[in-house]
Amino acid sequence: MSLQLRFDDAMLADPYPFYERLRSQDPVHWDESDKRWLLTRYADVTSVLRSPAASSNRVQVVLHFVPPEFRRIAEARAKSMISCDAPDHNRLRLLVSKAFTARAVEAMTHKIQHLVDGFLDAVQARGRMDVIADLAYPLPVTVIAEMLGVPAEDRGLFKKWSDELSILAGGGGSPAALTLDDYRRNAQSYEELTAYLSNIAAQRRTQPRDDLITALVQAEEAGDRLSEEEFYANTMLLLVAGNETTTNLIGNGTLALLQHPDQLRKLREKPSLIASAVEELLRYDSPVQMTTRVLTHDLELGGKQLRQGQMVVVMLGAANRDPEVFSAPNRLDVERADNKHLSFGLGSHFCLGAQLARLEGRIVFETLLRRMPKLRLEGPGPQRRRHFNLRGLQSLSVTF
Ligand code: HEM
Repeated sequence: MSLQLRFDDAMLADPYPFYERLRSQDPVHWDESDKRWLLTRYADVTSVLRSPAASSNRVQVVLHFVPPEFRRIAEARAKSMISCDAPDHNRLRLLVSKAFTARAVEAMTHKIQHLVDGFLDAVQARGRMDVIADLAYPLPVTVIAEMLGVPAEDRGLFKKWSDELSILAGGGGSPAALTLDDYRRNAQSYEELTAYLSNIAAQRRTQPRDDLITALVQAEEAGDRLSEEEFYANTMLLLVAGNETTTNLIGNGTLALLQHPDQLRKLREKPSLIASAVEELLRYDSPVQMTTRVLTHDLELGGKQLRQGQMVVVMLGAANRDPEVFSAPNRLDVERADNKHLSFGLGSHFCLGAQLARLEGRIVFETLLRRMPKLRLEGPGPQRRRHFNLRGLQSLSVTF
């Protein structure tokens, strides 16, 4: 059986048997076609994410795969915190971290509950909905638009930009997964969003508000804390990082519960399990399947010699099913204790929006189960999105 990572329909439908094969046969695997290491064991993934030899500044390594006319944009976007190392990374993360503390996020509970109730009110009388279009799609984009301080009416535009900007992350950084048309749509959205943000930034300079764009504009004006390029790259990151990921948590999570009626029942009977259920849904079908690092030094791992300059793919979705760490890893267990999944990453780049995503997840699942006691799948099976890394559903029809 081939250990080559393919982006085909079978893999999109269920990548977990492939991960299992890779983990048991060659856990530190050199992928010759894409020239990168694939790591599937929990211990190796965590050791790389914690290693000072693993850099997030990967743009130079992937740049030669990018068609020349799109390289300028790739370089500009790499000025975001997710693509930087210390000390730039600390400086950039600190500028926005205040808005994402547990306390700041907790304060959004009522707002999020109100939004979720509104989306469900709109479909209640129909007795059916598409969980993605009617709930999982609009929720995170509305929340982040509010935090950034852009008008909620523009959320349709925001959603389009966010989807098209995340195309490049969809294939897990594999150039094989991207077409010229992907790059074109990506570039067009980048230009449109830059123009849009420049407009909002100009307004906030003269009329500051209590929002993230104002905070970033003020940091930029202070001169040494944020360059103009960094302003755009990080605002775009905030927009992109939290949208499709949270949509996928809601979509994948709802599907997993509906496919495991015993777990759904348990959660209904004991709503206090909601926090542990959200962690388990994040582990079981992770919205982000992998991330990458570039080695700044040689590293020995699992008896193999990894070289400076090489790309390493840390497969979060695979580590989350490692039997060394999770008992019966392929079983969904909403009561799973000590669930140290890696769905939000680990180390200095640990997801800044984790608390927010968890809160949105908790409110959505709790409200869905409470308000829709007869929730069930409808029609043909759910459609997967053609994204390998950002794993999610195109649509999920249910009746209730
Ligand atoms: C279920 C939803 C989410 C998942 C699964 C997720 C997953 C991740 C992962 C795996 C990383 C680490 C990437 C790496 O180490 O290379 C990350 C980083 C990040 N996430 Fe999330 N995320 C989610 C929601 C959000 C939300 C709602 C926001 C903000 C609105 C957000 C903002 C960020 C940012 C800014 C980073 C970069 C942090 C840094 O580089 O220091 N994420 N996320």
